[in-house]
Amino acid sequence: MKNPSKILVTGATSGLGREIALQLAGRGAHVLATGRRVQRLAELEAKGSITGYQLDMNDPDAIEAFSAQLGSLDGLILNAGVTFADDFESGDYATDAAMVQTNVLANLQLIRLCLPALTATKGCILLVASLGGLTPVPYQSVYAGTKAFMVNFGLSLREELAPSGVRVSVFAPGGIKTEMTDIPAMSHLEKNLAPVAEVAKAALKAYDTMPALSVPGRENKLVAAAGKLLPRGFMARQAAKLYRKD
Ligand SMILES: NC(=O)c1ccc[n+]([C@@H]2O[C@H](COP(=O)([O-])OP(=O)(O)OC[C@H]3O[C@@H](n4cnc5c(N)ncnc54)[C@H](OP(=O)(O)O)[C@@H]3O)[C@@H](O)[C@H]2O)c1
Repeated sequence: MKNPSKILVTGATSGLGREIALQLAGRGAHVLATGRRVQRLAELEAKGSITGYQLDMNDPDAIEAFSAQLGSLDGLILNAGVTFADDFESGDYATDAAMVQTNVLANLQLIRLCLPALTATKGCILLVASLGGLTPVPYQSVYAGTKAFMVNFGLSLREELAPSGVRVSVFAPGGIKTEMTDIPAMSHLEKNLAPVAEVAKAALKAYDTMPALSVPGRENKLVAAAGKLLPRGFMARQAAKLYRKD
C-alpha cells in the first residue's frame, strides 16, 4: 500500500486550520498539525492520523528546529494567522511586528526550510491568504498588508517553482466564523461569515487542484472581481464604511 500523504498544516488548533486538518485526516492523509495550544493539539491527535507539534510562529529558532526533524513531506498548508481589528493608532508596533512575523516571515522561513523535501516529492504549497489581500481593508491595515504580501509572493513563487514540480496555490477566503472573527469589532459582520467546514472544503479542493488563486463563495468572488475593475481608493472607502466606528 502506498504511504499516506504527509501534509503539514500550520495553525491547526482552531478555526480553518483545525477543520482542514480534520478533513485531510478523514480522507487518509497523515497530518502534521501545529499551533501553540498543546491541549488543542492533544485533542486533534486523539482523533487519529494527526500528529501535533507545539510551534510558535513567532520563534524562528523553533521553526528551524521543527523543520529539521520533519523528513519527507508531500504538502505544506500555511494557514496560521492573526489580525488586529481596530484603528491603526490604537495599536502598537509590537503587535504589528508579531503579525508580520506570523503571517509573513514564518511562512517564508517554513517554505525555505521545507522546499528540499517538497521538491523531492513534487509536493504542494497552499498559502492561506485572504480576500483582504486582494482589496484594501481599513481598520485591519497591517493584516491586509500581510495578506497582500502572501498573494503576490505566492503567485510569483508559483511560476518560479513550476519547473521543479512543486506547485503553489493561493487561497483567499472572505470572512469565516472562527475565533479570529469572534470579536466585538466584527460582530456586525456575523451574518456574512461563512461556516468554517464549508471554507475548509473549498481549501481542500484548492489543495487538490492547485489553481493559481482561488476565492471561495459567490459574494467573495464578486468583491474580488470588483477589486480588479474599480479604483482601489474607491474599494478602500467602501470597506472603511463597514468598520468605521463613528
Ligand atoms: N476568519 C476569517 O474571517 C478569515 C478570513 C480570511 C482569511 N483568514 C485566514 O485564515 C487563517 C486561519 O484563520 P482562522 O480564522 O481560522 O483563525 P483562528 O481561529 O484564530 O486560528 C488561527 C490559528 O493560527 C494559530 N496561530 C496564531 N498565531 C500563532 C503563532 N504565533 N504561532 C503558532 N500558531 C499561531 C492559532 O494557534 P494557537 O493560538 O494555538 O497558536 C490558530 O490555530 C489565517 O491565516 C487567517 O488570516 C481568516
